[in-house]
Amino acid sequence: MLSIIVAMADDNAIGKKNNLLWHLSDDLKYFKRKTSGHTVIMGRKTFESIGKPLPHRQNIVLTRNPTVFSAISEKYPKGSDTGITFENDLSGILKKAATSDEEIFAIGGTQLFAAALDHANKLYITRIFAKAPGADAFFPYIDPLIWKKSSEEPLIHDTENNISFRFQILSRK
Ligand SMILES: NC(=O)c1ccc[n+]([C@@H]2O[C@H](COP(=O)([O-])OP(=O)(O)OC[C@H]3O[C@@H](n4cnc5c(N)ncnc54)[C@H](OP(=O)(O)O)[C@@H]3O)[C@@H](O)[C@H]2O)c1
Repeated sequence: MLSIIVAMADDNAIGKKNNLLWHLSDDLKYFKRKTSGHTVIMGRKTFESIGKPLPHRQNIVLTRNPTVFSAISEKYPKGSDTGITFENDLSGILKKAATSDEEIFAIGGTQLFAAALDHANKLYITRIFAKAPGADAFFPYIDPLIWKKSSEEPLIHDTENNISFRFQILSRK
């Protein structure tokens, strides 16, 4: 099963200059809780923004030039609890994830989300109630004819950034 996990602000903004818009501690903890122990799929730019494989997860990074990154894969032995592979067959990876018994997470960014949305069954969305001036990365349109809200948690206020947000889960209708 393929799930998407994303934090988005007004206008579906998700990033700026290859970085997250804000670092919201409770959201980062939520992301870790949901994805740890699972396989995560990301675009090469998101991987470079994170800077290393996410620990306790199998990381799949999409790039059209996987061989360029083979030295990084070799540092993380196969079979360990943190793995990384670089792949170029995006649609093959997404189809395999969608039919897997395991829950596999597409974690960004825009290019990866745009491809994954058609294959996903579930969207874990952190709705951030804030404008993001200068945002240059956006989540695609979420069609309300296709997606319905299946759960929503109470509003959380991040005092450090003075921003409110809440966790929602959307499922296919
Ligand atoms: N708010 C959130 O939840 C969240 C989560 C993740 C990321 N983000 C943000 O999203 C932004 C990055 O998004 P982005 O769209 O620029 O980049 P991205 O989706 O992370 O990565 C794009 C790269 O993925 C590879 N790729 C894309 N399509 C492919 C295909 N069909 N086959 C093989 N490889 C493919 C290419 O790598 P190569 O160029 O190497 O070929 C492409 O340059 C950043 O600002 C980041 O902080 C936000």
